[in-house]
Amino acid sequence: MPNSGPVHVLLLAGTAEAAALDAALADDDGFRVTVALAGVTRNARPFHGTVRRGGFGGAEGLAAFLRDGAVDLVVNATHPFADRMTAQAVQAAAACGTPILRLSRPAWTRPKGATWLPAEDLAHAARLLPSDATAFLALGQRHLAAFRGHAARLAVRSIDPPPPDLLPTARWIVGPPGQSVSEEQSLLVQLGVTHLVARNSGGTAGWAKIAAAAALSLPVIMIARPAQQAQDTVLNATAALDWLRSMPCWSPGRQPR
Ligand SMILES: NC(=O)c1ccc[n+]([C@@H]2O[C@H](COP(=O)([O-])OP(=O)(O)OC[C@H]3O[C@@H](n4cnc5c(N)ncnc54)[C@H](OP(=O)(O)O)[C@@H]3O)[C@@H](O)[C@H]2O)c1
Repeated sequence: MPNSGPVHVLLLAGTAEAAALDAALADDDGFRVTVALAGVTRNARPFHGTVRRGGFGGAEGLAAFLRDGAVDLVVNATHPFADRMTAQAVQAAAACGTPILRLSRPAWTRPKGATWLPAEDLAHAARLLPSDATAFLALGQRHLAAFRGHAARLAVRSIDPPPPDLLPTARWIVGPPGQSVSEEQSLLVQLGVTHLVARNSGGTAGWAKIAAAAALSLPVIMIARPAQQAQDTVLNATAALDWLRSMPCWSPGRQPR
């Protein structure tokens, strides 16, 4: 029997790569896209696919969604550090026999001559930070607990003002990341930073601070991405589109129902 109806793709989103794949699928009648957002971002960008906000309720909840929603394919394009969602997506897809792809941007690599101190996780990063350091924590408010009570001088930048009890002795810079290397360099110098602490998120948006630290010969305590189960993985939306079109359930002749 010939295939009929568009292939239903569940796109686990929350990144620029997810937005790029959503845009790439917009003009393809062979796919119907449900875009899932955790619902944590206040001003989420518009999508072409049908947006669904909020968690699924663990791997079981996601498996139920895959079955009830007749999802054909899953693309997990969540943030490289979204390890809970990633593990649950693999588990749910396996339980339903639904093919799944991990779309995750490339990790940053150390610029030539730069000093990177590799850390396994936030707690390890805190241990690597000398007590006499002045550290710039490029981590986001949800990832600071490991530095509570640390003897080093701490500076943190966040878009939103911090709650009063979160790192009360830290110096807060409220605002978005700097757009250029020179802007980031000026800030690091002005704060007297001796160490940068960052997660290896990859991508262009956060790269300026890493390049700025390298230009100033500041060591970067770089937190590695969480380990993931073996799965099909691509680095960009174009490769994800190729994967979707390589699936047996898709064919160029599939038309909207
Ligand atoms: N981690 C970061 O630094 C970062 C940065 C930028 C954007 N984001 C985005 O923010 C979201 C949450 O990040 P996180 O680090 O909290 O992830 P996480 O720890 O892996 O996930 C926490 C819970 O949030 C729900 N969830 C996560 N992503 C979802 C999605 N795309 N659609 C529906 N539910 C989702 C799931 O709830 P249930 O168990 O109820 O299903 C999951 O168990 C992710 O979508 C990620 O792409 C994260």
